[in-house]
Amino acid sequence: MGVNKRVAAIQPNAIRAFDDQTSDVEDILKLTLGEPDFSVPQHVKQAAIDSISSDDSHYAPSKGSVALRKAIRHFMIDRYDLSYDAETEIVVTLGATEGIYDTLTAFINDGDKVLLPAPNFSMYDQTIALAGGDVVYVDTSKSDFLLTPEQLQAAVDQYGDQLTTVLLNYPSNPTGVTYTAEQLAALADILRGTDITVIADEIYSELTYDVEHYSIAKLLPEQTVILNGVSKSHAMTGYRIGFIVGPAELIAPAATLHQFTVTSASNPAMAAAAEALGSAQGKLDSKRMRDAYRERRDYLVPALRQLGFEIPQPNGAFYVFAKLPANVDQDDYAFGIDLAKRGKVAVIPGSIFNIGGEGYIRISYAASMETLHEAVKRIGTFLANY
Ligand SMILES: Cc1ncc(COP(=O)(O)O)c(C=O)c1O
Repeated sequence: MGVNKRVAAIQPNAIRAFDDQTSDVEDILKLTLGEPDFSVPQHVKQAAIDSISSDDSHYAPSKGSVALRKAIRHFMIDRYDLSYDAETEIVVTLGATEGIYDTLTAFINDGDKVLLPAPNFSMYDQTIALAGGDVVYVDTSKSDFLLTPEQLQAAVDQYGDQLTTVLLNYPSNPTGVTYTAEQLAALADILRGTDITVIADEIYSELTYDVEHYSIAKLLPEQTVILNGVSKSHAMTGYRIGFIVGPAELIAPAATLHQFTVTSASNPAMAAAAEALGSAQGKLDSKRMRDAYRERRDYLVPALRQLGFEIPQPNGAFYVFAKLPANVDQDDYAFGIDLAKRGKVAVIPGSIFNIGGEGYIRISYAASMETLHEAVKRIGTFLANY
């Protein structure tokens, strides 16, 4: 049968596979999925309802409704001091996931090298492979899970023109670590003047705790596309609204791909996202959620450190990337299964996130304080009886 060899080579989502293996454990607490636990705010829901009630049922412009693109423009100026033209520099996608697919597929030619700091969000590798690119992993586990200028320079020197794309994700899934403006400036200095395109997955940009989110697009505006959306900022994962912003020359090919694959996003979901990103209330919603995540992080990180886990300080997203204590099985996959079955807490083994993730577990704190308290108690008991 004729199956495309790149598609045939794709592995099933490893996080879901692990989740499936452990979800039949009775009374298990799940800290596995990166999914906000808040309800969508009422005024945002109402915008979707109004869209339906007013027969807003026709094809929207392929790049997204004008109202949403204007709201995205406003959001990027208001929050990050970045200005994009709503007509030529913004495309609305079906979640950041489609943004990842569109940009990688639109930019990469067969055999191009794509630099990926690891451990990394598990969807990138497969999408790069699907697009015909070769992943160049850079292990960041020895540098606080941040790509260093030296590592970037070494890759630029080693691969020359073959290195066409750098994919950065900050705040990061799985580590929660993010870059300061100074750290990004040092990376930008190396990339400036090259033909390398930066894809910056900033889906967690609204969820930073100790630092203001700063985008590399401010330093490399001509070379950077940003992926973002409302999934994490407004707890709207199921609405499936994301966006790509960047210079017109990079947005045009991504928009073409979007047009040929999805035509346009759904009108009620776009109306809701426009309300979330464009209204003063929407800004307060994000703040409320951010404050709640911060409180959870401030509880969870010291509590886990107390139990013997080493943790790089997470200042964004809603993940803790914890190094296993020295006295337990260092095979993180086996540890994860054991913790789920005997300790009744499900987390994600770090090696699922590739190089540098071995010996770690990812714990999501997109869960209530009550759940987190109970999880810490259970992990403590599990370790005490190890
Ligand atoms: C780093 C990163 N990028 C993209 C996504 C996908 O976002 P969306 O649900 O908007 O497609 C996720 C979801 O977990 C993520 O962690």
